[in-house]
Amino acid sequence: MLNISTLSQPQNLDQAHPQALAYSEFMADMQQALSLPRKSISPKHFYDARGSALFDRICALPEYYPTRTEVSILQSHAGDIGQRIGPDAEIVEFGAGSLHKVRLLLNALERPLRYVPLDISGDHLNASAEQLRGQFPKLQVLPLVADYTQPWALPAQVAGSGKRVGFFPGSTIGNFSPAEALQFLQTTAQALPGGALLLGADLIKHPAVLHAAYNDAQGVTAAFNLNVLERANRELGANFKLHQFDHSAFYNAPEQRIEMHLISNCRQTVHVGGVVFSFEAGESLHTENSYKFSIDGLQRLAKRAGLQPGPVWTDPQHWFCLQWLDIPLSISKSKETP
Ligand code: AVI
Repeated sequence: MLNISTLSQPQNLDQAHPQALAYSEFMADMQQALSLPRKSISPKHFYDARGSALFDRICALPEYYPTRTEVSILQSHAGDIGQRIGPDAEIVEFGAGSLHKVRLLLNALERPLRYVPLDISGDHLNASAEQLRGQFPKLQVLPLVADYTQPWALPAQVAGSGKRVGFFPGSTIGNFSPAEALQFLQTTAQALPGGALLLGADLIKHPAVLHAAYNDAQGVTAAFNLNVLERANRELGANFKLHQFDHSAFYNAPEQRIEMHLISNCRQTVHVGGVVFSFEAGESLHTENSYKFSIDGLQRLAKRAGLQPGPVWTDPQHWFCLQWLDIPLSISKSKETP
């Protein structure tokens, strides 16, 4: 599963009825998305159980280079990264992400003290925490159910005895809008004063490579994209006819992002929660942006949020990077508002 599930979540989650909340939020978002002059929905709705399983399959596709490239960077530079973090560290991961990646990181560390995975989904969080406890018996694993796009605080046990390092791999930051990315960095800086952030980011590269990564031959990315409609049919009783929508993913060079859309291949109407919405032939439902970065651009963004860029580790082709960002003890109030 992946860490984007928290994008733009409401702050006061009703813990007693998470499913009812998820239903009403998805319903409201879908109805709003379909009412817009340019139909557009948040990518967080991709990630039900089926969407998460499809995303795991994407990560293993030959065309989808980000996961294996980031893993290779972690493997090749484990010594350096481990030294930079230092002994007795406390690792805070945003999203109960890939256990494989965090294991590589923890294995590179001297006596890691604590691991705090943050995710909005308690079930997923506890399952991965349990697995990790088995593998690192000396590590204190403290899962925290929280929305990391909103202000959050570490549990009292994490009292700052070691270096506190946030870990946000996968280029999930690329699925945020630039304003959301800035806000995420500011929120992180406020929560980990004096610490650091190890940030994974996908780099700008030849559009053909990007195109292939989001238009794989097996059609897994298309299925992942269409899953948002299937999910609406399953959960909201909507009546999307899936064969009447086509997956479209392309690189928008001026915006430095891959855009994913679902294109209606005929004139049609759809019912969602008792409301009728119409699509023209060729009309799009914009489902995701995946921003690509230059190292310079990423560092500028981090500086705007008050973080100080340190070393950057990359692969021989410069397709992906892990950027080290130091967080000052206090962030001046004058830093930009997103
Ligand atoms: C999770 N995120 C970084 C992925 C990406 O590449 O933007 C989601 C994805 N969408 C299509 N393929 C993968």
